[in-house]
Amino acid sequence: MTTRKILVTSALPYANAGLHLGHMLEQIQTDIWVRFQKMRGHECYYVCADDTHGAPIMLAAEKRGITPEQLIAEVEALHVADSQGFLIGHDSYYSTNSPENKELAQQMYRALRADNKITSRTIEQLFDPEKQMFLPDRFVKGECPKCSAKDQYGDNCEVCGATYNPTELKNPYSAVSGATPVLKTSEHYFFRLGECADFLRDWTSGNTTRADGVVQPHLQPESLNKMNEWIGGGLQDWDISRDAPYFGFEIPDAPGKYFYVWLDAPIGYMASFKKLCAQLNLDFDAWFKPDTDTEMYHFIGKDILYFHALFWPATLKFSGMRAPTGVFAHGFLTVDGQKMSKSRGTFITAKSYLECGLNPEWMRYYIAGKLNSRIEDIDLNLGDFVARVNSDVVGKYVNIASRAAGFITKRFGGKLADSVEDETRLLGNIAHEADNIAAAFEAREYAKALREIMGIADVVNAYVDANKPWELAKQEGQEARLHEVC
Ligand code: MSP
Ligand code: ZN
Repeated sequence: MTTRKILVTSALPYANAGLHLGHMLEQIQTDIWVRFQKMRGHECYYVCADDTHGAPIMLAAEKRGITPEQLIAEVEALHVADSQGFLIGHDSYYSTNSPENKELAQQMYRALRADNKITSRTIEQLFDPEKQMFLPDRFVKGECPKCSAKDQYGDNCEVCGATYNPTELKNPYSAVSGATPVLKTSEHYFFRLGECADFLRDWTSGNTTRADGVVQPHLQPESLNKMNEWIGGGLQDWDISRDAPYFGFEIPDAPGKYFYVWLDAPIGYMASFKKLCAQLNLDFDAWFKPDTDTEMYHFIGKDILYFHALFWPATLKFSGMRAPTGVFAHGFLTVDGQKMSKSRGTFITAKSYLECGLNPEWMRYYIAGKLNSRIEDIDLNLGDFVARVNSDVVGKYVNIASRAAGFITKRFGGKLADSVEDETRLLGNIAHEADNIAAAFEAREYAKALREIMGIADVVNAYVDANKPWELAKQEGQEARLHEVC
């Protein structure tokens, strides 16, 4: 068998609060896939990091009277504890605010510039005259231009659903200082995405032949449809600069200009892996050269597809690197059929779940039992959660062990029988399912894999019912048979 070299990522959580069960869905999905690849003997690494830059994090720190560095250090500790609590096996968990990331971001930007993919022009934006900063859309509030609802954000109205530009709001005010914003011009740097259209058409609809000869499509069919729409609608230049004050990396040769957080965020995948390479003595460059035979997969939520299926492959390609082998998008976790909500009490953090004393394996099982390779939302229904865990995990899977474990420890010194010659057919039938189950895991059809596994658990439980170890235990001369059945 060919040993594949596989780099896997989950999206980098923002460093502004602890993780919630939606984040855990993604990390659980990724972790299962990584564990599977490792068990198959492949060289597989799972990297992640905190996404630390941007105006919201800068302002959140300021509000608390601490530095952004203090805030992101605090949140990183929370994130690491949340992930570990859910048994997520990151090989490297790092930060986008790292020296590796700064160097890579600047190096890739310089390469893009040398390839004529960067341009600059002056744009007009809302500016907070009191705070002396340009305002991101979410930090301008006012009345909806369509329905006049008060206190709406600068990008869309939560009352009527309209989307608009922040300059269209009536009676706008800055969410930072309350001041009335004014229009102000500034020079911005742009990534010329339109110049990448041919590449992006090819890449999004294309595939990569893995080292073992299997052909891997870069995108799921639903993602490809979306990309065709977006590419067909024309690719706009992407604004990659922000003005000071901003928490991020300075753009080379552009004093006072910073990389927009989404420019250096995915590069954070590379930075996290680079750190791991230094620890394990791996050849980082070999994983990122254009003709590499290594694989790279990104597990992400459906909301950040645009960044991962357009900006990111283009950034990699035109800075002289490899592109991703696959982008695997999943749907959102809902609770009782609705978006998680603090006011409805359905916003469940990783920490609160664990602090209730709930076993992380239960949630891993429940989520895995609903995951497939498509971009569908996944509903957490607490009644269903209890029923699934009780019937499958407790009633079927653990039941097998509990029906045999007592005899094995009490009668056989905790040792299994040396041979099970009379049962080769049962064991053969089980082993026969291995390929199917492996194929389901590989294809991220976890629900299917678990259905097959639970089918086997049913077969084994039926075997226990038929062979009645509790009766064998009472009969003279059935010691060896009891041992074998257990
Ligand atoms: N920082 C960016 C990602 C940068 S990747 C280079 C970001 N962070 S996030 O914290 O908002 O989200 C992290 C991941 O969690 C994303 O993939 C997002 O889709 C996912 N989820 C956030 N809420 C979710 C649910 N309710 N359900 C499932 N996944 C969700 O986006
Ligand atoms: Zn409205």
